[in-house]
Amino acid sequence: MREEASIGPDLLQRQLEGFLAKLTKKYGDLKGKVEIALRSEVSFKEIGGLARAKQEIQGFVYALKSPELPRKWGTKPHKGILLYGPPGTGKTLLARALAHEAEAVFFHLRVSNVVAKWYADAGELIQEVFLLAKENGRSILFLDELEALTLPAEEARAVGRRIVNTVAENLDDLNAYDQIMAVAASNRVDAVDPLLIQPGRLYRFIEVPLPESDEKREIFRLHQARAEALAGRKLFDALDYDSLLARTVKMSGADLAEIVQRALEEKVRLEGSGEQPGLVTTEDLQRVIESYRRTQEIVEKIRYGQYL
Ligand SMILES: Nc1ncnc2c1ncn2[C@@H]1O[C@H](COP(=O)(O)OP(=O)(O)O)[C@@H](O)[C@H]1O
Ligand SMILES: [Mg+2]
Repeated sequence: MREEASIGPDLLQRQLEGFLAKLTKKYGDLKGKVEIALRSEVSFKEIGGLARAKQEIQGFVYALKSPELPRKWGTKPHKGILLYGPPGTGKTLLARALAHEAEAVFFHLRVSNVVAKWYADAGELIQEVFLLAKENGRSILFLDELEALTLPAEEARAVGRRIVNTVAENLDDLNAYDQIMAVAASNRVDAVDPLLIQPGRLYRFIEVPLPESDEKREIFRLHQARAEALAGRKLFDALDYDSLLARTVKMSGADLAEIVQRALEEKVRLEGSGEQPGLVTTEDLQRVIESYRRTQEIVEKIRYGQYL
Protein backbone atom coordinates (compact mmCIF):
# COMPACT_ATOMS: atom_id res chain seq x y z
CA MET A 1 0.00 0.00 0.00
CA ARG A 2 1.16 3.44 -0.83
CA GLU A 3 1.38 5.93 1.98
CA GLU A 4 0.66 9.59 1.66
CA ALA A 5 3.36 11.43 -0.24
CA SER A 6 5.23 13.62 2.19
CA ILE A 7 5.85 16.60 -0.06
CA GLY A 8 5.20 20.06 1.37
CA PRO A 9 2.41 22.37 0.21
CA ASP A 10 4.71 24.72 -1.71
CA LEU A 11 6.21 21.96 -3.76
CA LEU A 12 2.79 20.46 -4.31
CA GLN A 13 1.46 23.83 -5.43
CA ARG A 14 4.28 24.15 -7.95
CA GLN A 15 3.76 20.60 -9.15
CA LEU A 16 0.06 21.19 -9.65
CA GLU A 17 0.64 24.44 -11.48
CA GLY A 18 3.19 22.76 -13.72
CA PHE A 19 0.81 19.94 -14.39
CA LEU A 20 -2.10 22.25 -15.18
CA ALA A 21 0.11 24.26 -17.50
CA LYS A 22 1.06 21.07 -19.31
CA LEU A 23 -2.56 19.97 -19.58
CA THR A 24 -3.63 23.39 -20.79
CA LYS A 25 -0.98 23.30 -23.48
CA LYS A 26 -2.18 19.92 -24.62
CA TYR A 27 -5.94 20.35 -24.28
CA GLY A 28 -6.59 24.09 -24.21
CA ASP A 29 -8.30 26.09 -21.49
CA LEU A 30 -9.42 23.92 -18.58
CA LYS A 31 -11.49 26.50 -16.76
CA GLY A 32 -14.85 25.14 -15.67
CA LYS A 33 -13.77 21.64 -16.64
CA VAL A 34 -10.87 20.56 -14.50
CA GLU A 35 -10.07 22.39 -11.31
CA ILE A 36 -7.66 21.50 -8.59
CA ALA A 37 -7.77 22.96 -5.10
CA LEU A 38 -4.94 22.31 -2.71
CA ARG A 39 -7.19 23.29 0.11
CA SER A 40 -10.94 23.12 -0.36
CA GLU A 41 -12.70 25.89 1.56
CA VAL A 42 -16.06 24.30 2.36
CA SER A 43 -16.43 22.70 5.78
CA PHE A 44 -19.29 20.59 7.13
CA LYS A 45 -20.37 23.59 9.19
CA GLU A 46 -21.32 25.47 6.05
CA ILE A 47 -23.68 22.76 4.87
CA GLY A 48 -27.20 22.88 6.27
CA GLY A 49 -29.09 19.68 7.10
CA LEU A 50 -27.99 16.43 5.42
CA ALA A 51 -27.08 14.90 8.77
CA ARG A 52 -27.03 11.33 7.45
CA ALA A 53 -24.89 12.13 4.44
CA LYS A 54 -22.47 14.11 6.58
CA GLN A 55 -22.22 11.33 9.14
CA GLU A 56 -21.40 8.77 6.50
CA ILE A 57 -18.85 11.03 4.87
CA GLN A 58 -17.26 11.70 8.25
CA GLY A 59 -16.35 8.01 8.36
CA PHE A 60 -14.46 8.42 5.08
CA VAL A 61 -12.69 11.47 6.50
CA TYR A 62 -11.36 9.34 9.36
CA ALA A 63 -10.26 6.57 7.03
CA LEU A 64 -8.47 8.98 4.70
CA LYS A 65 -6.66 10.70 7.52
CA SER A 66 -5.79 7.51 9.35
CA PRO A 67 -5.45 4.61 6.91
CA GLU A 68 -4.46 2.37 9.81
CA LEU A 69 -8.00 2.64 11.19
CA PRO A 70 -9.71 0.49 8.55
CA ARG A 71 -6.84 -1.98 8.77
CA LYS A 72 -7.25 -2.15 12.51
CA TRP A 73 -10.82 -3.24 11.95
CA GLY A 74 -9.87 -5.75 9.30
CA THR A 75 -11.34 -3.80 6.44
CA LYS A 76 -10.15 -1.82 3.47
CA PRO A 77 -10.82 1.86 2.93
CA HIS A 78 -13.73 2.55 0.64
CA LYS A 79 -12.64 3.71 -2.79
CA GLY A 80 -15.63 5.18 -4.48
CA ILE A 81 -18.92 6.79 -3.50
CA LEU A 82 -21.80 8.16 -5.50
CA LEU A 83 -23.74 11.15 -4.20
CA TYR A 84 -27.15 11.26 -5.80
CA GLY A 85 -30.13 13.54 -5.54
CA PRO A 86 -31.88 16.47 -7.22
CA PRO A 87 -29.90 19.46 -8.51
CA GLY A 88 -28.81 22.08 -5.99
CA THR A 89 -29.05 19.92 -2.88
CA GLY A 90 -25.40 20.11 -1.83
CA LYS A 91 -23.63 17.24 -3.61
CA THR A 92 -20.74 19.39 -4.75
CA LEU A 93 -20.58 21.02 -1.32
CA LEU A 94 -20.33 17.61 0.34
CA ALA A 95 -17.52 16.50 -1.97
CA ARG A 96 -15.63 19.72 -1.24
CA ALA A 97 -16.23 19.31 2.47
CA LEU A 98 -14.89 15.76 2.39
CA ALA A 99 -11.66 17.09 0.85
CA HIS A 100 -11.56 19.95 3.34
CA GLU A 101 -12.12 17.82 6.43
CA ALA A 102 -9.67 15.15 5.25
CA GLU A 103 -7.10 17.79 4.28
CA ALA A 104 -6.94 16.24 0.85
CA VAL A 105 -6.25 17.85 -2.51
CA PHE A 106 -9.51 18.29 -4.39
CA PHE A 107 -9.51 17.33 -8.05
CA HIS A 108 -12.76 18.53 -9.54
CA LEU A 109 -13.66 17.06 -12.90
CA ARG A 110 -16.84 18.48 -14.39
CA VAL A 111 -17.54 15.46 -16.50
CA SER A 112 -20.18 17.09 -18.68
CA ASN A 113 -17.91 19.97 -19.65
CA VAL A 114 -14.88 17.73 -20.11
CA VAL A 115 -16.80 15.43 -22.43
CA ALA A 116 -18.48 18.29 -24.28
CA LYS A 117 -15.14 19.92 -25.01
CA TRP A 118 -12.80 17.02 -25.67
CA TYR A 119 -15.19 14.30 -26.63
CA ALA A 120 -13.03 11.35 -27.72
CA ASP A 121 -10.02 12.69 -25.81
CA ALA A 122 -11.97 13.08 -22.58
CA GLY A 123 -10.90 9.64 -21.35
CA GLU A 124 -7.25 10.48 -21.84
CA LEU A 125 -7.58 13.75 -19.95
CA ILE A 126 -9.45 12.07 -17.09
CA GLN A 127 -6.72 9.44 -16.93
CA GLU A 128 -4.06 12.13 -16.63
CA VAL A 129 -5.90 13.71 -13.72
CA PHE A 130 -6.15 10.32 -11.97
CA LEU A 131 -2.40 9.84 -12.48
CA LEU A 132 -1.64 13.18 -10.93
CA ALA A 133 -3.84 12.41 -7.94
CA LYS A 134 -1.99 9.14 -7.41
CA GLU A 135 1.34 10.95 -7.44
CA ASN A 136 0.16 13.46 -4.91
CA GLY A 137 -1.05 11.32 -2.08
CA ARG A 138 -4.17 12.20 -0.15
CA SER A 139 -6.72 13.23 -2.74
CA ILE A 140 -10.38 13.39 -3.57
CA LEU A 141 -11.19 12.83 -7.22
CA PHE A 142 -14.56 14.35 -7.79
CA LEU A 143 -16.43 13.22 -10.89
CA ASP A 144 -19.18 15.80 -11.04
CA GLU A 145 -22.22 15.13 -13.24
CA LEU A 146 -21.17 11.56 -13.79
CA GLU A 147 -24.17 10.76 -16.00
CA ALA A 148 -22.53 12.84 -18.74
CA LEU A 149 -20.15 9.95 -19.39
CA THR A 150 -23.03 8.17 -21.02
CA LEU A 151 -23.27 9.59 -24.50
CA PRO A 152 -26.72 8.92 -25.90
CA ALA A 153 -26.39 9.38 -29.64
CA GLU A 154 -25.80 6.25 -31.71
CA GLU A 155 -22.51 7.38 -33.22
CA ALA A 156 -21.26 8.50 -29.81
CA ARG A 157 -21.79 5.13 -28.24
CA ALA A 158 -18.36 3.71 -29.03
CA VAL A 159 -16.70 6.88 -27.78
CA GLY A 160 -18.77 6.79 -24.60
CA ARG A 161 -17.86 3.14 -24.06
CA ARG A 162 -14.16 3.93 -24.30
CA ILE A 163 -14.40 6.79 -21.82
CA VAL A 164 -16.44 4.72 -19.37
CA ASN A 165 -13.91 1.88 -19.66
CA THR A 166 -11.04 4.26 -18.98
CA VAL A 167 -12.78 5.61 -15.89
CA ALA A 168 -13.63 2.08 -14.69
CA GLU A 169 -10.00 0.98 -15.05
CA ASN A 170 -8.79 4.04 -13.19
CA LEU A 171 -11.26 3.40 -10.39
CA ASP A 172 -9.94 -0.16 -10.11
CA ASP A 173 -6.40 1.17 -9.83
CA LEU A 174 -7.38 3.32 -6.86
CA ASN A 175 -7.74 0.18 -4.76
CA ALA A 176 -3.98 0.18 -4.38
CA TYR A 177 -4.02 3.66 -2.82
CA ASP A 178 -5.13 4.08 0.77
CA GLN A 179 -5.58 7.82 0.69
CA ILE A 180 -7.35 8.49 -2.54
CA MET A 181 -11.07 8.37 -2.98
CA ALA A 182 -13.26 8.87 -5.98
CA VAL A 183 -16.48 10.74 -5.32
CA ALA A 184 -19.06 10.98 -8.08
CA ALA A 185 -22.22 13.05 -8.15
CA SER A 186 -25.29 12.73 -10.30
CA ASN A 187 -28.85 13.94 -10.38
CA ARG A 188 -29.68 11.32 -12.98
CA VAL A 189 -28.66 7.95 -11.60
CA ASP A 190 -30.69 6.23 -14.30
CA ALA A 191 -28.13 7.49 -16.82
CA VAL A 192 -25.04 6.42 -14.88
CA ASP A 193 -23.25 3.56 -16.59
CA PRO A 194 -23.70 0.29 -14.61
CA LEU A 195 -20.08 -0.60 -15.36
CA LEU A 196 -19.05 2.09 -12.87
CA ILE A 197 -21.38 0.83 -10.17
CA GLN A 198 -19.57 -2.26 -8.99
CA PRO A 199 -17.67 -3.41 -5.93
CA GLY A 200 -14.26 -1.76 -5.92
CA ARG A 201 -15.57 1.08 -8.10
CA LEU A 202 -18.41 3.37 -7.04
CA TYR A 203 -20.16 1.20 -4.56
CA ARG A 204 -21.44 3.36 -1.75
CA PHE A 205 -24.49 5.41 -2.49
CA ILE A 206 -25.27 8.46 -0.45
CA GLU A 207 -28.59 10.14 -0.94
CA VAL A 208 -28.61 13.92 -0.98
CA PRO A 209 -32.34 14.73 -0.88
CA LEU A 210 -34.25 17.97 -0.97
CA PRO A 211 -34.21 19.60 2.49
CA GLU A 212 -36.95 19.09 5.09
CA SER A 213 -38.38 22.11 6.90
CA ASP A 214 -35.87 22.23 9.75
CA GLU A 215 -33.05 21.75 7.26
CA LYS A 216 -34.34 24.62 5.15
CA ARG A 217 -34.36 26.83 8.20
CA GLU A 218 -30.74 25.89 8.84
CA ILE A 219 -29.78 26.60 5.21
CA PHE A 220 -31.53 29.99 5.29
CA ARG A 221 -29.68 30.88 8.48
CA LEU A 222 -26.32 29.78 7.09
CA HIS A 223 -26.69 31.99 4.06
CA GLN A 224 -27.86 34.92 6.12
CA ALA A 225 -24.95 34.49 8.49
CA ARG A 226 -22.53 34.37 5.57
CA ALA A 227 -23.85 37.65 4.16
CA GLU A 228 -23.75 39.28 7.57
CA ALA A 229 -20.18 38.10 8.12
CA LEU A 230 -19.21 39.53 4.74
CA ALA A 231 -20.93 42.85 5.44
CA GLY A 232 -19.71 42.95 9.02
CA ARG A 233 -23.15 43.97 10.26
CA LYS A 234 -26.67 42.77 10.85
CA LEU A 235 -28.71 42.57 7.64
CA PHE A 236 -31.79 40.55 8.57
CA ASP A 237 -34.66 41.36 10.86
CA ALA A 238 -36.03 38.60 13.12
CA LEU A 239 -37.71 36.32 10.60
CA ASP A 240 -40.89 34.28 10.75
CA TYR A 241 -39.48 31.11 9.26
CA ASP A 242 -42.71 29.14 9.47
CA SER A 243 -44.47 31.48 7.10
CA LEU A 244 -41.45 31.57 4.77
CA LEU A 245 -40.95 27.83 4.68
CA ALA A 246 -44.58 27.17 3.86
CA ARG A 247 -43.88 28.73 0.47
CA THR A 248 -40.73 26.80 -0.33
CA VAL A 249 -42.15 23.36 -1.12
CA LYS A 250 -39.74 21.29 -3.24
CA MET A 251 -37.06 23.95 -3.13
CA SER A 252 -33.40 22.99 -2.85
CA GLY A 253 -30.57 24.57 -0.88
CA ALA A 254 -29.50 26.30 -4.07
CA ASP A 255 -32.99 27.82 -4.41
CA LEU A 256 -32.90 29.10 -0.83
CA ALA A 257 -29.43 30.56 -1.31
CA GLU A 258 -30.68 32.32 -4.43
CA ILE A 259 -33.68 33.75 -2.57
CA VAL A 260 -31.48 35.22 0.14
CA GLN A 261 -29.22 36.60 -2.56
CA ARG A 262 -32.10 38.26 -4.39
CA ALA A 263 -33.46 39.85 -1.25
CA LEU A 264 -30.04 41.40 -0.68
CA GLU A 265 -29.74 42.54 -4.29
CA GLU A 266 -33.07 44.31 -3.90
CA LYS A 267 -31.55 46.28 -1.00
CA VAL A 268 -28.53 47.14 -3.12
CA ARG A 269 -30.82 48.47 -5.82
CA LEU A 270 -32.81 50.53 -3.35
CA GLU A 271 -29.76 52.03 -1.74
CA GLY A 272 -28.24 52.72 -5.15
CA SER A 273 -31.34 54.65 -6.12
CA GLY A 274 -30.95 56.91 -3.14
CA GLU A 275 -33.27 55.24 -0.64
CA GLN A 276 -32.30 54.07 2.79
CA PRO A 277 -33.55 50.50 2.95
CA GLY A 278 -33.93 48.80 6.32
CA LEU A 279 -33.06 45.24 7.33
CA VAL A 280 -34.40 42.35 5.25
CA THR A 281 -37.79 41.42 6.67
CA THR A 282 -40.08 38.41 6.42
CA GLU A 283 -42.24 40.39 3.98
CA ASP A 284 -39.21 41.18 1.79
CA LEU A 285 -38.35 37.50 1.59
CA GLN A 286 -41.95 36.54 0.95
CA ARG A 287 -42.06 38.83 -2.03
CA VAL A 288 -38.84 37.39 -3.38
CA ILE A 289 -40.08 33.84 -2.85
CA GLU A 290 -43.28 34.57 -4.77
CA SER A 291 -41.48 35.99 -7.77
CA TYR A 292 -38.88 33.24 -7.59
CA ARG A 293 -41.58 30.58 -7.66
CA ARG A 294 -43.05 32.15 -10.76
CA THR A 295 -39.77 32.04 -12.62
CA GLN A 296 -38.55 28.73 -11.20
CA GLU A 297 -40.33 26.66 -13.76
CA ILE A 298 -38.68 28.54 -16.59
CA VAL A 299 -35.26 28.46 -14.93
CA GLU A 300 -35.54 24.71 -14.50
CA LYS A 301 -36.33 24.24 -18.14
CA ILE A 302 -33.33 26.27 -19.18
CA ARG A 303 -30.98 24.63 -16.72
CA TYR A 304 -32.08 21.02 -16.90
CA GLY A 305 -34.18 21.05 -20.03
CA GLN A 306 -31.88 18.63 -21.77
CA TYR A 307 -32.62 16.05 -19.08
CA LEU A 308 -36.38 16.26 -19.09
N1 LIG B 1 -27.37 21.82 2.22
C1 LIG B 1 -26.97 23.06 1.84
N2 LIG B 1 -26.53 23.95 2.77
C2 LIG B 1 -26.14 25.18 2.40
N3 LIG B 1 -26.14 25.63 1.14
C3 LIG B 1 -26.58 24.80 0.17
C4 LIG B 1 -27.00 23.47 0.47
N4 LIG B 1 -27.35 22.87 -0.69
C5 LIG B 1 -27.15 23.77 -1.66
N5 LIG B 1 -26.68 24.94 -1.15
C6 LIG B 1 -26.36 26.15 -1.93
O1 LIG B 1 -26.56 25.86 -3.30
C7 LIG B 1 -25.33 25.93 -4.03
C8 LIG B 1 -25.25 24.77 -4.99
O2 LIG B 1 -25.09 23.57 -4.28
P1 LIG B 1 -24.33 22.31 -4.90
O3 LIG B 1 -23.59 21.60 -3.84
O4 LIG B 1 -23.52 22.76 -6.08
O5 LIG B 1 -25.55 21.43 -5.42
P2 LIG B 1 -25.50 20.10 -6.29
O6 LIG B 1 -24.05 19.75 -6.51
O7 LIG B 1 -26.22 19.08 -5.49
O8 LIG B 1 -26.22 20.43 -7.56
C9 LIG B 1 -24.24 25.91 -2.98
O9 LIG B 1 -23.10 26.58 -3.41
C10 LIG B 1 -24.91 26.58 -1.79
O10 LIG B 1 -24.86 27.98 -1.93
MG1 LIG C 1 -23.01 20.00 -8.29
